[in-house]
Amino acid sequence: MVITPSPTPPGTVISGSSTCSTDTVYFQNELFPLINSGCNTSGCHDAVSHADGVDLSSYDKIKAYVSAGNAANSKLYKVLVKSGSERMPLPPLPAFTADQIAKVQKWINQGAKNNACSGGCDTTKITYAAAVQPLMQTYCTGCHNTASPGGGIDLSSYAQVKTYAANGRLLGSISYATGYSPMPKGSKMQDCQITQIRKWIEAGALNN
Ligand code: HEC
Repeated sequence: MVITPSPTPPGTVISGSSTCSTDTVYFQNELFPLINSGCNTSGCHDAVSHADGVDLSSYDKIKAYVSAGNAANSKLYKVLVKSGSERMPLPPLPAFTADQIAKVQKWINQGAKNNACSGGCDTTKITYAAAVQPLMQTYCTGCHNTASPGGGIDLSSYAQVKTYAANGRLLGSISYATGYSPMPKGSKMQDCQITQIRKWIEAGALNN
């Protein structure tokens, strides 16, 4: 199964003025990118396809599947922890990782706010394990995984990410450079995150 992104994806602007707190999960910084990559895709829950009538393309739409403060009673959370054909994303798409599920749970239990923060990204943190892989998992692998490699591209392992780092397409697409498809569609990464990836590539794109 190959998933193509929505043709008219909604943009997300990181507009928060508060400094990022490690105890808080922010909608615009982390939740929306995760839902955008894992759910808000063509054939699934984007504004055009809205499979089963479910559209997860914006905060207001996502909010309809959430009982603020109560993850256990929220459809958005419950489908992530189900098994078999009830689980979302639908098999054979990869399940959210335990860490991603915990983020969704925490965001809901913290009131499911449309919040954002700035400063939560450190441009001296440029290893694959600490910076690049978590960014890929939040922003990209929902569309670029082994079961559904968007555009034939799988970004779920170091070797694969390195291939696109080496041929320039990784940086070209995330910096929305001319001549590349802008990635991720609908949810551009923060400049600081793009800098982390650029520095990792410049330092040799190591498996560090
Ligand atoms: C909503 C689904 C979706 C998300 C999220 C997404 N991609 Fe893509 N990506 C695609 C599809 C589909 C294609 C092939 C069609 C195209 O190029 O637009 C593609 C193409 C690409 C290409 C080839 C572009 C080119 O011009 O050569 C690269 C590189 C890429 N993606 C990297 C990424 C990275 C890195 C991320 C995360 C930062 C990401 N994508 C997030 C669906 C997605």
